Amino acid sequence: MTGKPVKASRVTLTQLMGPNDANNLGNVHGGILMKLCDEAGGMAAMRHARRPAVTVVIDSMAFHSPVHIGNLVTVTAEVTWVGRTSMETCVVVNAEDMLTGRITHTNTAYFLYVALDESGRPTQVPALICETDEEKARCERAAARQAYRLEQRRQGLL
Ligand SMILES: CC(C)(COP(=O)(O)OP(=O)(O)OC[C@H]1O[C@@H](n2cnc3c(N)ncnc32)[C@H](O)[C@@H]1OP(=O)(O)O)[C@@H](O)C(=O)NCCC(=O)NCCS
Repeated sequence: MTGKPVKASRVTLTQLMGPNDANNLGNVHGGILMKLCDEAGGMAAMRHARRPAVTVVIDSMAFHSPVHIGNLVTVTAEVTWVGRTSMETCVVVNAEDMLTGRITHTNTAYFLYVALDESGRPTQVPALICETDEEKARCERAAARQAYRLEQRRQGLL
């Protein structure tokens, strides 16, 4: 199976936040942003594997600043690491105030997906080709995160 570069998996989703996305104060629900993150991460994983991919783990998510009704939210995702059947994606969320143009970084999160075959069983994915020093460093950090997750799973904590 031929390896694929990180950039081949890159996905950007953009969505304008409306009243249905927010609470009475006009702040967008965290769950709305989590759904967008999962969609973007899933699309990046599927782009890499060209297989259906299911979410297995969502690492903790912290929202550093509020997103408001009328903000244009941009979610970018790309694969950071792959195992045999699993793929980690890094998902970055930014919110743009359409009136001022100010862009706020809301959060960065890591989602783990597994590629499935026609029978719904985990199936092998292409190797990840890290072309830049930043991609290589990020891949090492992702491998450490995955080792931590597997240890958590071994202990029955994840
Ligand atoms: C994804 C799923 C098919 C994996 O099944 P499984 O029996 O755990 O399969 P495996 O043990 O072979 O694990 C498959 C891969 O996932 C990884 N994995 C599974 N659970 C993990 C966990 N808790 N943490 C980190 N990695 C995990 C394994 O390390 C393996 O990776 P590798 O092939 O790269 O080494 C199964 O867990 C499932 O269907 N989960 C539900 C997914 C879903 O519906 N998601 C939507 C959200 S509701």
